[in-house]
Amino acid sequence: FGDRVLAGLKVVVSAGPTYEDIDPVRFIGNRSSGKMGFAVAEAAAQAGAQVTLVAGPVSLATPQGVAKRIDVRSAAQMHAAVTEVVAGADIYIGAAAVGDYRPNAVAEHKLKKQNGLDLTLQLAENPDILASLAAQQSHPFLVGFAAETQNVESYARDKLQRKGLDMIAANQVGGGLGFETADNAITLYWADGSAELPRADKAVLARQLIDRIASRYKAVRG
Ligand code: PMT
Repeated sequence: FGDRVLAGLKVVVSAGPTYEDIDPVRFIGNRSSGKMGFAVAEAAAQAGAQVTLVAGPVSLATPQGVAKRIDVRSAAQMHAAVTEVVAGADIYIGAAAVGDYRPNAVAEHKLKKQNGLDLTLQLAENPDILASLAAQQSHPFLVGFAAETQNVESYARDKLQRKGLDMIAANQVGGGLGFETADNAITLYWADGSAELPRADKAVLARQLIDRIASRYKAVRG
């Protein structure tokens, strides 16, 4: 991986989970550690790109070479930050595990126990960041991730089409792969092809992923 395959390109990467606040002390989150997205941001920078990293709440140091990092908490904040920085970008890679739902309202004070009664939270759907970028007339080359526990290929191909993406990196989660882990395994899909990136450390996988994204980007937009 000596080549600066993304030299001269602007790349935005999202990483990590989002936290959707319930009250001042509680939130709905997920198990994403940010490792995969941070590794992708580092690999893109090593490949010569000018990288902006939009990070959910994670405890990771900014990778070497990343030009700008924006920290956010909720899906709405991630949506706003990505929308702002993506103007003029060539490639957007969405590795973040964005919360699909948020509580309808954030309670001003800590919710109290209901003395044996069930508590019901009403959830509202969050906007889809990737789909909203795809809907814009001029948008960057779009790469999504798909975290699935079953039917990986059909769910991933469905997301590729439904969200209007150029490529999707599917990972089967569980069994020491996917969320929180050091290793991952990816199958990359695009309209008329696919590629297996077998189990490896996320840093190694990220470099292979960037190589594949760069070739496809050049084929489609070059
Ligand atoms: O962070 P790690 O611990 O290293 O774990 C890595 C990972 C498993 C989180 C990562 O590899 C991964 O798969 N990220 C995407 C997880 C996910 O939420 O997938 P999804 O199938 O729910 O979403 C599909 C795609 O749509 C993703 O690119 C996501 O960023 C995007 N999305 C989802 C919801 C939303 N409201 N807006 C979006 O843009």
